[in-house]
Amino acid sequence: MAIDALKLTDVDTYYGDSHVLHGVGFALEEKRVLALLGRNGAGKTTCISSIMGFLAPRKGEISLFGTPIGGLAPEAISRLGIGLVPQGRRIFPSLSVRENLIIARQREKESEKPWTYDRILDLFPSLAERSRQLAGLLSGGEQQMLAIGRALIGNPRVLLLDEPSEGLAPLIVAEVARTIKQLKDGGQSIVLVEQNSGLALDVADQVVIFNTGRACSRARLMKCATTTISSHSTSVCSTLIKKTGHRRSAADNKTRQQGVKCASKNRILAAISSLRSASLRARKQRAQR
Ligand SMILES: Nc1ncnc2c1ncn2[C@@H]1O[C@H](COP(=O)(O)OP(=O)(O)O)[C@@H](O)[C@H]1O
Ligand SMILES: [Mg+2]
Repeated sequence: MAIDALKLTDVDTYYGDSHVLHGVGFALEEKRVLALLGRNGAGKTTCISSIMGFLAPRKGEISLFGTPIGGLAPEAISRLGIGLVPQGRRIFPSLSVRENLIIARQREKESEKPWTYDRILDLFPSLAERSRQLAGLLSGGEQQMLAIGRALIGNPRVLLLDEPSEGLAPLIVAEVARTIKQLKDGGQSIVLVEQNSGLALDVADQVVIFNTGRACSRARLMKCATTTISSHSTSVCSTLIKKTGHRRSAADNKTRQQGVKCASKNRILAAISSLRSASLRARKQRAQR
């Protein structure tokens, strides 16, 4: 059986006494895109920080191609092959485009076709035109491309993208989506955190939905507008239906047992949006108390 590219098992993470991740578990298959969806504050970035080693989980295991990495320092995790495109991009504004890329270069790992400075500029031609410009003067979209290029030049085995579409115009979001598909076609394993569920469902093979620090469902998406849920995985339908109070139909039960085609993308989107409104309602009720 193939080893998972990245696997989290029962991970609990805290900020001081504040318990944010509760038993989070999921597995990313090699050369796949796994999307982490969920409302603001659900714990997505905390999960990314736990994988990257910025926060040490108090419980649970994290492994990269079978090697345990939980509790290691971020530099060690980066050297072992996890690359991060952080939320908000965090490029170095006072360095040039070229310098931002060169400083992130790592030993070219054993991949057949490693990412080099020239290959990054081929992927993002607009950065090639601005290679000597200060990164802080780039547009939001170009800064996002630079942040992706900076992570790629370290030749990661698993790439983590934390909200790459945040604050970008729709045309640029489409370009980000094209880039992610291109990377996936090139065999890159990717964890994609998104609030833009349309983008995430467009590119993802697997989906994990976060609800207040709990990974509450996962599904494998087909290229077509339907979802196949493998018989051993938690059904996106059943979990979401439970969470959102919809009734589960006999057809859902049947598909759960057989692991065949099940919910449509629209149905997942509807369930996500009803999860969102349920949590907004709960927040309002708490504020009124
Ligand atoms: N540095 C921090 N210290 C304390 N609490 C934090 C910190 N960063 C995030 N949180 C809290 O952890 C929860 C999850 O946040 P986060 O992981 O950033 O969510 P998301 O990325 O899904 O929007 C939120 O309630 C947030 O307020
Ligand atoms: Mg976040």
